[in-house]
Amino acid sequence: MSAPMNLEKVFVREVQRNDSEILQINQCEVGDVGCVVWDAAIVLAKYLESHDFHRGNDLVDKAVVEIGAGTGVVGLMAASYGAMVTITDLEEFVPLMQLNIDTNKHLCRHPVQAKELKWGSELKREFSHVDIVLVADCIYYEESLEPLLKTLDDLCGNDTCIYCCYEERTTDNKPELQRKFLHMVEKIFSVEKIPLHRQDEQFCSEDIHILKMTRLRLS
Ligand SMILES: C[S@@+](CC[C@H](N)C(=O)[O-])C[C@H]1O[C@@H](n2cnc3c(N)ncnc32)[C@H](O)[C@@H]1O
Repeated sequence: MSAPMNLEKVFVREVQRNDSEILQINQCEVGDVGCVVWDAAIVLAKYLESHDFHRGNDLVDKAVVEIGAGTGVVGLMAASYGAMVTITDLEEFVPLMQLNIDTNKHLCRHPVQAKELKWGSELKREFSHVDIVLVADCIYYEESLEPLLKTLDDLCGNDTCIYCCYEERTTDNKPELQRKFLHMVEKIFSVEKIPLHRQDEQFCSEDIHILKMTRLRLS
């Protein structure tokens, strides 16, 4: 068991947008893995600003859900570009997500929601139409793979697009886990890997991958 999160002991990570606006993301000194910003979240957040992303997507007024959001930085970046965003995680993260929403609300066109969404659980009606699902650094333990896939499947209609960013790790069973997850995903979704040259020039890395996934169409 990890120690409970303490919102009195936070430290801020600033994430600068390309237009120099700054997202202030509170992270906790003590707590479970989601209480800090992971590199995959920065890579995905900055990709949302890229020319490549904007060629195919306009975030304004789009319904966006971030799952396993932790601090919520990726969803907040989307909200700062005009999306209607719900950031979700386990219940214990709702206060941290809410703190980050409150800290950054002046940058957001629509009020951002912080909600509990445990992977594999039945979805509430509020998630019935989603344009974009954001996922950063959520492929990391065996028991979560099936529930995570169920949640992605449940959130996605035919036109929903998932952006899933993960860091390739070489320790323990991580390579095997990631391979297994990709294998499972490819049965339901068509998967496109976004090459490095289409990502943010500075915030990208050989070992961090962004996958764009849409529901497979039956022909
Ligand atoms: C490595 S952290 C990544 C956090 C954030 N996306 C980032 O990249 O900075 C993984 C996140 O997944 C969440 N998570 C793990 N298992 C979960 C589950 N069963 N349902 C919902 N969220 C879960 C954790 O609470 C944590 O916030």
